[in-house]
Amino acid sequence: MSSHPFDNEFLITPEQKEQFRRDGFVKLEGFLNDNVVKALLNRVEVELSGEGATSFDKSRSAELLDIRTTYDFETDKGQVYELMERPYFRRALTDLAECDLFLTAELCFEIEKNVSKGLPWHVGVQSFGFQPAEEFACTIWAPLHPVDTKGQRGGMAYVPQNVISGDFVFRQIEPAVVSTLEAKERAGVRTNVNEYFAMREGILNSPTMCEILENHQVEDDFAPGDALLFNKMVVHRSIMLGEGALPKRAAYAMRFVDVGSHYDLERAKNLEYPAEQYGKGFFPYKPITRFHMEIAEAGARDGDVLAECAFFDNRERRTMRRERDFRPEPKERVER
Ligand SMILES: [Fe+2]
Repeated sequence: MSSHPFDNEFLITPEQKEQFRRDGFVKLEGFLNDNVVKALLNRVEVELSGEGATSFDKSRSAELLDIRTTYDFETDKGQVYELMERPYFRRALTDLAECDLFLTAELCFEIEKNVSKGLPWHVGVQSFGFQPAEEFACTIWAPLHPVDTKGQRGGMAYVPQNVISGDFVFRQIEPAVVSTLEAKERAGVRTNVNEYFAMREGILNSPTMCEILENHQVEDDFAPGDALLFNKMVVHRSIMLGEGALPKRAAYAMRFVDVGSHYDLERAKNLEYPAEQYGKGFFPYKPITRFHMEIAEAGARDGDVLAECAFFDNRERRTMRRERDFRPEPKERVER
């Protein structure tokens, strides 16, 4: 294959593989070359200056989070597909994930020095809440400015999944929050969007849980080009960008699901609950994304394979396949 400006010599090590399996996350040093970092910075700039850009605080009255973001990019994904086609990129991510991967979304986050508190402890329920809880998904997160944990910070903290896994949030808490609020409404008790978010966040941010999570948290340094791969069960939070030379810190993220993963309409409807329940009136709640419902609106039915859903364009280019040379073709998707 002829050379491409996004090519890289990067190879994963057995230790990185082992760490990802055990902790659910792994830092990949030097994963993206300078050309990729430049291209991503550009994409992020375009997205954040466009109409799609929003702040979490605009969509949630519960807390002023002041983190600028876009949920899935409007910009043409040509460059991103070119990156996904680089053999090193595809090999590293599918080897770590141990499955074929399908790109569902690109996101970016920008935090401002001494202003943005960012997101408290959470798991990616918004991004992965429309697939069955037990199906695999992961995020590659790449800060595009330096993160110095001994200086200005501004990165992320994450907790190994063998200490605390967010599994119970996907499986139990998310559905239980909705059923609890529904029961209250049925009993004639008015609920509101603040209550909804307080319940969603309260479990992972209770004083006891915060103490446990903070005691086990990992916070890495990042140079532009370094990236973090983490699966959807990893509990994580933003770290504020403190005093220092950087006025802002941007990060770029890609969300992937196992290529065999399914659309779960029931769970998608749970995500839609606050918009349906609190989206009218004088101070209507505006959701940050309707992504989870748009999949159904584009024709998907419950149980459809996401990688085959019409909502996603360029489905072949969104797919990264593992090298099959040494393995027999599996008949069925293996449950992970
Ligand atoms: Fe997150």
